[in-house]
Amino acid sequence: MHSLQCVLQVQRSLRWGPMASVSWLSLRMCMAHSSLSSTTCPNPERQEAGARKDFSSRLATGPTLQHFLRSASAPQEKLSSEVEDPPPYLTMDELLGRQRKVYLETYGCQMNVNDTEIAWSILQKSGYLRTSNLQEADVILLVTCSIREKAEQTIWNRLHQLKALKTRRLRSQVPLRIGILGCMAERLKEEILNREKMVDVLAGPDAYRDLPRLLAVAESGQQAANVLLSLDETYADVMPVQTSPSATSAFVSIMRGCDNMCTYCIVPFTRGRERSRPVASILEEVRKLSEQVLQLIHERDNICKQIHLPAQSGSSRVLEAMRRGYSREAYVELVHHIREFIPGVSLSSDFIAGFCGETEEDHIQTVSLLREVQYNMGFLFAYSMRQKTRAYHRLKDDVPEEVKLRRLEELITVFREEATKANQTSVGCTQLVLVEGLSKRSATDLCGRNDGNLKVIFPDAEMEDVNNPGLRVRAQPGDYVLVQITSASSQTLKGHVLCRTTLKDSSTYC
Ligand code: 5AD
Repeated sequence: MHSLQCVLQVQRSLRWGPMASVSWLSLRMCMAHSSLSSTTCPNPERQEAGARKDFSSRLATGPTLQHFLRSASAPQEKLSSEVEDPPPYLTMDELLGRQRKVYLETYGCQMNVNDTEIAWSILQKSGYLRTSNLQEADVILLVTCSIREKAEQTIWNRLHQLKALKTRRLRSQVPLRIGILGCMAERLKEEILNREKMVDVLAGPDAYRDLPRLLAVAESGQQAANVLLSLDETYADVMPVQTSPSATSAFVSIMRGCDNMCTYCIVPFTRGRERSRPVASILEEVRKLSEQVLQLIHERDNICKQIHLPAQSGSSRVLEAMRRGYSREAYVELVHHIREFIPGVSLSSDFIAGFCGETEEDHIQTVSLLREVQYNMGFLFAYSMRQKTRAYHRLKDDVPEEVKLRRLEELITVFREEATKANQTSVGCTQLVLVEGLSKRSATDLCGRNDGNLKVIFPDAEMEDVNNPGLRVRAQPGDYVLVQITSASSQTLKGHVLCRTTLKDSSTYC
């Protein structure tokens, strides 16, 4: 039965053509054979007798032909949110991580950063916990790089250090398991297991879905490996977990593997054939990232609640001519979504009046969008044809100058009416204002910004500091002050200052 699985997997890999690495099967399979020929599996000292007995007895009642046929044809579209059924030789309990703590270490390129996030996403769903403390880890996984000799040497050196850690492990603790993931696992395969007997798990770049099973097998003291390359694995349904909370950027991976075969490069051999992630799954990841940004804006007081959403036009026809990639309806939907997510968010936009081919009806659509969204800030321009642009080569600048200017005036008027209405809802409220300095128009006034990034002007007067009662202070640039709003226009709010405060001390005042 087990050799049948070997055959099926090898056949699949051979169909991939010359570039695919020769299929190298899980040592779990080797262990299965080892019940017939014990010499094929190294490290007998690693195998606890009880576990072996248990394992052998489960093999006897093990998988059927049907099981392997099913696995051989299984598409890789399983929902990662569901932990897979265990194979017949493992229980569900063994497959789940039992709250074991995983320490992940990433070497090499951005793809490895992404691989780490994918591997962690899979393990997290399997019940593993994450630790950033090497000392408390039950499982250490190195996401490795093979690009140059030196990259591999770094991993070998690291493995020697980890060996010491593993040997020092107390008997009272669960044994420390060490795994090599990624390119080096793929390139060196069993050489790693033979050279470093303390490596428990090997997983190539296309085998991360198998990690829970590989770790479960390693739990019983055997080495486990899967370095099969795939033609179509993109981990499309696995949402990467951004691993570094302090990271200022995130990578969205759109393809895996490489077919270029540059004469110096190992990548086609370690990462396999080039394949692209389905567009829908890329968009879904980007959407999730955008939602995280909205969530942050919503929950963090030190990020101002203002978003610039340049619409350019309210007419879907003009938006298409502009090649903006969205319709009026999609734009409005986005506005609603943002407002739901961040109640009270301040929105600003850019608009162009009189783009090539813009009709009076298109213009009315833009006016109606300004009314519908009611922006807090706006930047409105008459279209001017620029050389080298696509419009310059393909479209006609056919809206007469005076029409452009008249339409622009109308847009400005409507924008101001709506912004005034929106800003007047602040009158009577007390708002937190970040002081920027003296007002440009008056030396006796200070100017700052509220949480919606709107200008707030107030007289430069003495005030109390909430943290030093009795102390009279003058606000300085960078200070936070509470201002009671007394009037509002389309561009600015005016008010009088109540006290100096801090972000922490202030809560929402309106
Ligand atoms: N004519 C008029 N406005 C333009 N903008 C960009 N190009 C032009 C142009 N040729 C406006 C858009 C953009 C803002 C920075 O400048 O509204 O969002």
